[in-house]
Amino acid sequence: MKPKAVLFDAYGTLFDVYSVGLLAEQLFPGSGERLALLWRDKQIEYTRLVTLSAGDGARYRPFWELTRAALHFAAERLGQALDARAEAQLMNQYRHLSSFPENREVLEELGRRGVRAGVLSNGDPDMLAVAVRSAGLAALLDPLLSVQAVRRYKTDPAAYALGPAALGLPARDILFVSSNGWDAVGATWFGYTTLWLNRSGMPPERLGTEPTHSGRSLRDVLAFFP
Ligand code: LAC
Repeated sequence: MKPKAVLFDAYGTLFDVYSVGLLAEQLFPGSGERLALLWRDKQIEYTRLVTLSAGDGARYRPFWELTRAALHFAAERLGQALDARAEAQLMNQYRHLSSFPENREVLEELGRRGVRAGVLSNGDPDMLAVAVRSAGLAALLDPLLSVQAVRRYKTDPAAYALGPAALGLPARDILFVSSNGWDAVGATWFGYTTLWLNRSGMPPERLGTEPTHSGRSLRDVLAFFP
C-alpha cells in the first residue's frame, strides 16, 4: 500500500540536535558531546513526565521551557557552571539547529511529485517556524503541526492524531518519518505507516513492534512516492 502524504518529525529528523555539541564543546571543553546527549535525553524525559502526570494537560509546559530546564539539569549534572551568556548562546543555537544537507533536495523533489509534506513535532509553533525558516525550508513544508495544540507530547495518541486530522487521511495512508526510534514505534502503534531513519546506527527498540520501514537518510523517503 502506497502512502499519500508524508509527515516529518522535526528534532533529530530534519534538524540535527547534536549540532549544539560543537558550541557546547567550545564552552565546556571535554564535555560538549556528553552535554548534548544528556540535554537531549533530559528534554525528552521531561516531555514524558509532564504528559504522563496529568491526563488533562495541566502539567504541560512549552517545549522551549522544557529544553531550557533540561539544559540546566545537564550542565549541573556534568559539574559545569552555566552562566546567563552560555545559556543564551546554547538556546540560540537550539533555535537555529543545522538542517541535514539532503533535506532541501528531497523536499523539492516531493513537491515536484505533488506529495504533501509536513511536520508533526513536539516543538512549539514558534520554534518550528523559526527552525524551518532559518533552514530555508518554509515554502517546502506544510502543515507545521505542533503538539502544543493538544498540550500532550508524543507518544500520546492525541499528539499523533493531529496528523490525520490536518491531512484528512487515515494514519496508515501517511508516511510518518522519524529518526527517533521511540517516535517511530509510537507512531506505528498509533497506526501510521512509518519510516525510521536510523541516522546514527542505533539498535532497534526492543518493544515487540518494528517501524514499518527503516532507512538512513531523508532520501529514502523518495522511494515511497515514485
Ligand atoms: C520532535 C522531537 C521528538 O520534533 O524530536 O517531535
